[in-house]
Amino acid sequence: MSFAAVDVIRAKRDGGRLTGEQIAWVVDAYTRGVVAEEQMAALAMAIFLRGMDAGEIVAWTGAMIDSGERLTLDVSRPTVDKHSTGGVGDKITLPLAPLVAACGAAVPQLSGRGLGHTGGTLDKLESVPGWRAELSTVEIVRQLDEVGAVVCAATEGLAPADRKLYALRDVTGTVESIPLIASSIMSKKIAEGSSGLVLDVKTGSGAFMKTPDQARELARTLVEIGTAHGVSTTAVLTGMGTPLGRAVGNAVEVAEAVEVLQGGGPADVVSLTLTLAREMLALAGLSTVDPVEVLASGAAYRTWRRMILAQGGDPDAPLPTPRHVQVVEASQDGVLSTLDACSVGLAAWRLGAGRARRGDPVQHAAGILCHAKPGDAVVAGQPLLELHTDTPGAVPSALKALESAFTISADDEAPASTGEGLVLEILR
Ligand code: URA
Repeated sequence: MSFAAVDVIRAKRDGGRLTGEQIAWVVDAYTRGVVAEEQMAALAMAIFLRGMDAGEIVAWTGAMIDSGERLTLDVSRPTVDKHSTGGVGDKITLPLAPLVAACGAAVPQLSGRGLGHTGGTLDKLESVPGWRAELSTVEIVRQLDEVGAVVCAATEGLAPADRKLYALRDVTGTVESIPLIASSIMSKKIAEGSSGLVLDVKTGSGAFMKTPDQARELARTLVEIGTAHGVSTTAVLTGMGTPLGRAVGNAVEVAEAVEVLQGGGPADVVSLTLTLAREMLALAGLSTVDPVEVLASGAAYRTWRRMILAQGGDPDAPLPTPRHVQVVEASQDGVLSTLDACSVGLAAWRLGAGRARRGDPVQHAAGILCHAKPGDAVVAGQPLLELHTDTPGAVPSALKALESAFTISADDEAPASTGEGLVLEILR
């Protein structure tokens, strides 16, 4: 069935509901270049302003999946994946994928690169010498079967409509729309072929969704889309007001993930990894397996090593170190009461850990170590933050981003960052 693009735009502009046929046609015609960029820009703005109902969002997601291939993961273990909407210091995929694999599931984690202040999993892993992000579909399926976990770049054939539309939304002020964000995330994840999906929907200063209400609406929409498309989906709402763990950047986050896999690491990272692992195992029909025991046994760390080796990486090679380190000290005695995720993420990005434009390189050694977390007692002169970069000229602008990043209070009322309270709600 064929339509005039302008009629579809007018229908949404005037607050109407698009039919499944209109949606299938417009997404397909846009992917083929028949609907022009300016027409899709107008439609994206109309959707941004008018919204879409649940049926439209499910149909829009389906059309984006149909724009490319949907992988068939023919493996002997149950498949389950995790996706995070992105946060500062969010390295959870790195310990989580090998942990859940060591518990008996197969975790196909096809990821993107970072843009802006939240880092990308591939950029972090590329700080491991020799590690390769690009795998063919045959390699992905083989590694899933043999190792149980694969973290790699999404193949070109997955949801090409989303790649084109996301680039357009980026330059037309239409990113921050729940129907468009939800369909974008889910089209890629559903096309990846996993049977179960756990979504870590973040809220707070370092997240896309600044308020819990927005995050809850996104979470509900994501679960509805997954369920309608036959993927068992759970969403976990988590706080992102302060960085996760102590490391923000690339190599520093890999080092912290390895600490967790070796039985240590910050309490909040360990706690969130275990919460998400339990939800993934429940979807995979493996809820009798205890991820705490598997982590303590060293099996998850052994799977991490196999996962890195399978993609050409050397798990024993030293990680890159920065050419320049700058320390920010506490100005007074007291308790660190706040450490703002958005400011720390922005500072790490300015130090070179992230990129401003798609395709730019990142510095693998760049990032920030938080020597104190909210709730920690501090004394004047002690190191609070350690800034890592290969380009010392970037330090002044990073310091500017950190100007009001933290507060030290004289009393000791701030709660310690144990990971408790990080999970706000679980939607199934
Ligand atoms: N992440 C995505 O994959 N898509 C969006 O639209 C926003 C965040």
